[in-house]
Amino acid sequence: MDSISSNCRFDRDLRWRTGVQLIPVVCKSSNGFKITKAALEEAYEKAQEANINVKGILITNPSNPLGTILDRETLQSIVSFINKKKIHLICDEIYAATVFSQPKFISIAEIIEEEEEEGNCNRDLIHIVYSLSKDMGFPGFRVGILYSYNDEVVNCARKMSSFGLVSTQTQHLIATMLSDDEFVEGFMAESSKRLAKRYNFIRNELSKVKIECLESNAGLFCWMDLRKMLKNPTLEEEMVLWRGIVNGVKLNVSPGSSFHCSEPGWFRVCFANMDDETMEVALKRMQMFVGKPKEEEMVVVERNKRSKSIILRRLGSFSSSRRTMEEAIMPPCILSPQSPLVSART
Ligand SMILES: Cc1ncc(COP(=O)(O)O)c(C=O)c1O
Repeated sequence: MDSISSNCRFDRDLRWRTGVQLIPVVCKSSNGFKITKAALEEAYEKAQEANINVKGILITNPSNPLGTILDRETLQSIVSFINKKKIHLICDEIYAATVFSQPKFISIAEIIEEEEEEGNCNRDLIHIVYSLSKDMGFPGFRVGILYSYNDEVVNCARKMSSFGLVSTQTQHLIATMLSDDEFVEGFMAESSKRLAKRYNFIRNELSKVKIECLESNAGLFCWMDLRKMLKNPTLEEEMVLWRGIVNGVKLNVSPGSSFHCSEPGWFRVCFANMDDETMEVALKRMQMFVGKPKEEEMVVVERNKRSKSIILRRLGSFSSSRRTMEEAIMPPCILSPQSPLVSART
């Protein structure tokens, strides 16, 4: 069972080779997508009814795609749930150091210490996974960490790891870097300062066109609420809107359905992998897309054969200032193919 989850990556990483099934724990916007005991019980029962043997719960804390952290009570209730059901808990804490404002991040390791003192917790059931990909921005190094209290799991992982060993050069480089406390502290402080600035900027700019994001304090993204832009609250309409954004303004924001979100109309906006100028361009495009007040003012996309660029403008309001508009919306640099801002230049 997994709570709103890290897009199709959990599907890919956990299901493709193992045949494991993932059952979403349905979380709702009405309480900020909290993982409640009732939601856990419901997902568990649903699995049992379908004759699925539940082996564990997978959570991401801080959450991808929500950018929120799990509070102490929620973590305690999850620990008590898995102990009651005698199932495992895998905590993906890959975004642990992306927290940029209060409340602070609480690792499941802290909860275990407290619960164990009271004799409420079987440590063997709990496993933490981590990597340097997000906090340090090192996805290319392929360094992952499994921290389990269960010797059998650790032994098995040790054997499995021979298929994906981290090179000695990488180990040396990472060890040298992480032992430099001054560097790590400075890096973390600057990173959280920049993430906070981006997050506030995006929320502020989107609010100008009456688009809200879920209040969050971690992660490299925000969770944007476009429910009111759907004709009907269906997954089909969510895909129609997603296609409209991709084709209309060349922005690829991930639809909630790719994270198993049960409420159509939510989108994840990644904001940490581009420079300031590109971010501004992306937001201008988004504002144009959602800010269309009347049908005749709809954003149109046309191809300018001579400049080989795509021109976006609002009919009426922008028709006479095409050049300015083009300058305003064009990405200032060639973007990486991974960038959510699909390059408009052809
Ligand atoms: C929650 C979560 N876990 C794990 C990963 C995988 O990270 P990597 O394989 O780059 O270390 C990601 C990447 O998007 C993620 O969002």
